[in-house]
Amino acid sequence: MKKVIFYIIFILILTAIIAPVIITSIEKSQFDKNSGILSKSELSKQSDVAVIYFSRSGNTAIMANKIAEMFDAELINIAAPKYEIGLKGLANAAMSFQDHEVEIAPQTIDLAKYRKIYLGSPIWFYRPSPPIWKFAENNRFDGKDVVFFNSYNSNYGQDYIDEFKSLVMKNGAKSFEHKAIIRGRMGSQIPTEEFLSEVAALFAEN
Ligand SMILES: Cc1cc2nc3c(=O)[nH]c(=O)nc-3n(C[C@H](O)[C@H](O)[C@H](O)COP(=O)(O)O)c2cc1C
Repeated sequence: MKKVIFYIIFILILTAIIAPVIITSIEKSQFDKNSGILSKSELSKQSDVAVIYFSRSGNTAIMANKIAEMFDAELINIAAPKYEIGLKGLANAAMSFQDHEVEIAPQTIDLAKYRKIYLGSPIWFYRPSPPIWKFAENNRFDGKDVVFFNSYNSNYGQDYIDEFKSLVMKNGAKSFEHKAIIRGRMGSQIPTEEFLSEVAALFAEN
């Protein structure tokens, strides 16, 4: 009996150590693949359309990149070191449903010159991730058409999207639209080319 308990505890400890290592290495390889796509793009530096996004493992980043290519838009990344790729960032993200404050860079952007703003984020715990909330809190969207977009793996809560819309409208936006695309669960994501052609189709009418 003692032996069985020992083996069970041993397996539990092993799983607790191995699972995060496997998850972070899958994430890292997806991040690297996504980063490779980003570095190949030549994008506009002067436009009245901006695509502003936060992305941890790169899915929302390639979505943002595609939208920027489609509309000849400026592409602006919001960095949040707390959630960067790796074990620590994953652990912080995994506890992010408790996060109300997160450091982002840039904190504010002068959005005056833009007519339209695409704002992107992954879905975490059924809601937009903390960095995009922070960005929307910090910035004014006076008179802008805002299109909010997400990559996610299965589900999001419409109530959280509505809450995010209220924040953006409160900060001056003229209109708000929401678009989201499933990338698929880790280890069974849809192929990048398929994902990007879904992005192209979804945003074609914008
Ligand atoms: C901490 C955490 C929580 C997540 N929660 C959800 C969720 O509630 N619903 C969902 O569909 N996907 C969820 N996902 C999956 C991400 O939304 C999905 O992988 C997304 O494409 C990641 O975007 P990124 O690569 O731009 O960071 C979660 C991912 C993380 C890291």
